[in-house]
Amino acid sequence: MYIFARFKHKAMESIKELLVTEQLDREVTVRGWVRTKRGNAYVNFVAMNDGSSVNNIQCVFDLEGSFKEADLIKVTTGACVSIKGQLVASEGKGQRVEVKATSFEVHGEADPEKFPIQPKKHSLEFLRENAHLRMRTSTFSSVFRVRHALTFAIHKYFNDRGFYNIHSPILTATDGEGAGEMFRVSTLDAKNPPLNEDGSVDFSEDFFGKQTNLCVTGQLEAELAALALSKVYTFGPTFRAENSNTSRHLAEFWMIEPEVAFYDIYDNMDLAEDFLKETIKYVMETCPDDLQFLSDRIVQEEKGLPQDKRQPMELLEKLNFVVNNDFARITYTEAVDILRNSQPNKKKKFQFLVNEWGVDLQSEHERYLVEKHFQKPVIITGYPAKIKAFYMKLNEDGKTVAAMDILFPGIGEIVGGSQREERYDVLLQKVKDFHIPEESVWWYLDTRKFGTVTHSGFGLGFERLMLFLTGMTNIRDVIPFPRTPKNCEF
Ligand code: 4AD
Ligand code: MG
Repeated sequence: MYIFARFKHKAMESIKELLVTEQLDREVTVRGWVRTKRGNAYVNFVAMNDGSSVNNIQCVFDLEGSFKEADLIKVTTGACVSIKGQLVASEGKGQRVEVKATSFEVHGEADPEKFPIQPKKHSLEFLRENAHLRMRTSTFSSVFRVRHALTFAIHKYFNDRGFYNIHSPILTATDGEGAGEMFRVSTLDAKNPPLNEDGSVDFSEDFFGKQTNLCVTGQLEAELAALALSKVYTFGPTFRAENSNTSRHLAEFWMIEPEVAFYDIYDNMDLAEDFLKETIKYVMETCPDDLQFLSDRIVQEEKGLPQDKRQPMELLEKLNFVVNNDFARITYTEAVDILRNSQPNKKKKFQFLVNEWGVDLQSEHERYLVEKHFQKPVIITGYPAKIKAFYMKLNEDGKTVAAMDILFPGIGEIVGGSQREERYDVLLQKVKDFHIPEESVWWYLDTRKFGTVTHSGFGLGFERLMLFLTGMTNIRDVIPFPRTPKNCEF
């Protein structure tokens, strides 16, 4: 097996490595950003963090020996500093090792009067406004280390099972979901665009010679690939101009879309459930400190709240529960029956009452099913054809499709997928019924003419799984620089 050579360039141990090394009583250099400085007239303790771990390393400055307090005046919270010293077993409590400083260099100062991230509790709203600096906090550095681990887990999961990663295009001329929530991409003069005789914009003069958008999905292209490479997945940014200013929607989010030839809807459910469990497990194994920190953070936040306002389980307990229990699997028809007979429906507590078969499920209904009724993740299949996308396989009853949504506690829909309509004439009819211009999907229809076969896939909202893993409650806090209506800063 090929193993990458250890990164030798400027060999410098990270704080993460120093905190666990067995080789003590030697000179080391710590490079990073000052989290806190405290102490007295005899000694100063500087907590340093370089982003490699949620834990800081303590550097001790002896003010009775080599240093005077005035020397350390620029060593303040937020400053970037290198500290040389002896790595020794710590005499104090709270850390295994510490660095007895012998010299230091300040690379970049941070004026304490102006640096926004002070060692105190900041609200998540405040940190969102300072997203350029928020990764310097324990909460956000943990979130983004977890984000990396989850990305890696996803690629590893598919690679280990013989899937090929396909880069689906970001610029597209099709509305893959048919929901019309696309961002237009154009180089036409916005003030003075070329016009057709009827006054509409003449997109034939635009860069691509037709109207183009940012992708809302990579699925249609993933299907083309699956009908050649059998098992594929995409993992890319996705753009939706839906004006939903909620804690679960972004205008730019990342989606993972596996697509598998010869898989039916049941294989698809098994794949999705296994995939979610295995990737969560991987992050639990590789990020124990970050997840523990995030778990404790929620316990702190919820202190003082009444019991019914707190999370029913602590974060790690919740993750373990999901990994170790089967998801519930029900049909849309069963879901409607449960909801119709539920207390909030009878007492008219739902904003949207569930009275008849065929209505779309709202997030209040999804959360009732997951959090109150089943108290675990739920997979719902067999939705009415009318409320789902054109490409889903029509069931024999002629009115439902082989769709599947996976709902998670605290989040609602995390995965949407289906078995695909592989019959040419049925798909063509659907394209017509949904008023999709045939010339925009001729290539998609073509795959149903040449070597078509049963196939299935799904889309996972990456940030929604991040919400679940980290216990954060606003989707803006699990992506480095969120894009939402009226917000494209940084
Ligand atoms: O259910 P959706 O719209 O499904 C598709 O796009 C299919 N093409 C997937 C497929 O079958 N290959 O979106 C999939 C998932 C949702 O379940 C949700 O988790 C996430 O993408 N999602 C969003 N996440 C953040 N912000 C938004 N605005 C989102 N819209 C969808
Ligand atoms: Mg969906």
